[in-house]
Amino acid sequence: MSGTQTDIPFYMPVGNECRLFELAFRHKLPLLLKGPTGCGKTRFVAHMAARMGRPLHTVSCHDDLTAADLTGRYLLKGGDTIWADGPLTQAVRTGGMCYLDEVVEARKDVTVVLHPLTDDRRILPLDRTGELLDAPDEFMLIVSYNPGYQNVLKQLKPSTRQRFVAIEFDFPPADIERKVVATESGLPEEQVVSLVMLAQKLRAMKGHDLEEGVSTRLLVYCATLINAGLPVREAVQAAMIEPLTDDFDVKKGLDELVVAVFG
Ligand SMILES: Nc1ncnc2c1ncn2[C@@H]1O[C@H](COP(=O)(O)OP(=O)(O)OP(=O)(O)O)[C@@H](O)[C@H]1O
Ligand SMILES: [Mg+2]
Repeated sequence: MSGTQTDIPFYMPVGNECRLFELAFRHKLPLLLKGPTGCGKTRFVAHMAARMGRPLHTVSCHDDLTAADLTGRYLLKGGDTIWADGPLTQAVRTGGMCYLDEVVEARKDVTVVLHPLTDDRRILPLDRTGELLDAPDEFMLIVSYNPGYQNVLKQLKPSTRQRFVAIEFDFPPADIERKVVATESGLPEEQVVSLVMLAQKLRAMKGHDLEEGVSTRLLVYCATLINAGLPVREAVQAAMIEPLTDDFDVKKGLDELVVAVFG
């Protein structure tokens, strides 16, 4: 292990995810993380990459992202054309970790690149340069997505998803979430208790009036605002209610929950 404790981004484990990640890394298995927005997936990967002492190449996938964005392309530089590695190729060459966030958003040709890397071949063919890269033992591919709001067309094909060991993430249980929010925001834990209680009530409305429950990320924002001196009710409105919905009636319903918790 390299790096000191302070180099390692803070992550509080919820279950066996750290052990699973470490085993996947040691045994060269690719990893898929799924879970709602703002529940700690990205932070977990940053934490584990630092713990394993590997450089991390993160790519936020979007619907224009092509295989060449990951592998690399020829660029014109002063009259010459030079090859520039993309983040996936860099990770393969240097034995790093490559994290593809929201992988279901990427274009179809991306899966063609991922398949030979995520079975026992562990190779990355670069058609444009004619190279065939063997991934070193330290290379690891991690992908994540949010199964909630994707439309049906944007699911991973079984032949892709069955190449990964998968971990399901969710919002942490209240005792852990209180510690996470207090640590991240600096707000004393006693003052975080009612915010977490409100979050749990808001999450219970998912699927009824709300598309997604309030995230741990928003709780951290809210606690940060309170710690900076904003009155609690204003912080709750700005960080835990407004980001969730634009619907006037739904907001009124949420306000009732706020009153029930804060009086
Ligand atoms: N277990 C945890 N330990 C430490 N911090 C956490 C934990 N869970 C959530 N957080 C906090 O929540 C914030 C949001 O988490 P993160 O960015 O990892 O979410 P995500 O799951 O990647 O969301 P998205 O799907 O939107 O990318 C982090 O910046 C961190 O402050
Ligand atoms: Mg993320």
